Amino acid sequence: MKQTTPSADRNMDVVRDRLVDLIPKEARDLLEISSGTGQHGAHCAPVMQNLRWWPTEHDAARMTSIAAYVADCSSGNFMAAQQLDVMDEDWPTAVQPETADVILNINMIHITPWAACAGLLKGSGHKLAAGGLLILYGPFRQRDVETVSSNEAFDVWLKDQNTDYGLRYLEDVAEEAAKHNLLLTAVEAVPANNLMVVFKRNDA
Ligand SMILES: C[S@@+](CC[C@H](N)C(=O)[O-])C[C@H]1O[C@@H](n2cnc3c(N)ncnc32)[C@H](O)[C@@H]1O
Repeated sequence: MKQTTPSADRNMDVVRDRLVDLIPKEARDLLEISSGTGQHGAHCAPVMQNLRWWPTEHDAARMTSIAAYVADCSSGNFMAAQQLDVMDEDWPTAVQPETADVILNINMIHITPWAACAGLLKGSGHKLAAGGLLILYGPFRQRDVETVSSNEAFDVWLKDQNTDYGLRYLEDVAEEAAKHNLLLTAVEAVPANNLMVVFKRNDA
């Protein structure tokens, strides 16, 4: 059955509009990591007919929601959900497509241990095509920017859930990404004090 979350309800128009601008027209395969309910793919795939949108999820219960959205999507480019755990070393070879032009991850790295962020970055370095993009959306800390009080409160709440959770420093994420040949190319402020962050696989 289709599920919804308030955050996906709120941000899916912004995500769609920014992706339309950021993703090159020649991109063919977008791999979404941690698709959650499946709302973003259902909302975006129909307006991105040039690419196939491949949703994945770690939580089996959410896979049924994604499947319901896929079944209801008539555009033909919202592919079947695949199970994927970014902490699994083999994830880049375990899912289709063979290589991705774009990897998208929305609101995951603050609500998982740092190892999940590291696994996402390492795997993306392998999975992306030459020049491919990794796009992250969510709340971050930045060393030269004061964190707004709502994000500070969110960070406290996250750490109450699990001491390994919490807003990540963009600088730490970029440093880890660089180890895997992913260079930070764009940082955009989006509503509700979130960022859209773009890394490009550097093949120079
Ligand atoms: C806050 S939800 C965001 C879901 C969706 N991207 C959205 O914005 O609606 C975080 C997601 O991360 C997923 N997740 C947690 N641990 C994961 C892991 N190790 N590998 C992949 N996904 C994971 C959860 O199952 C959940 O769907």
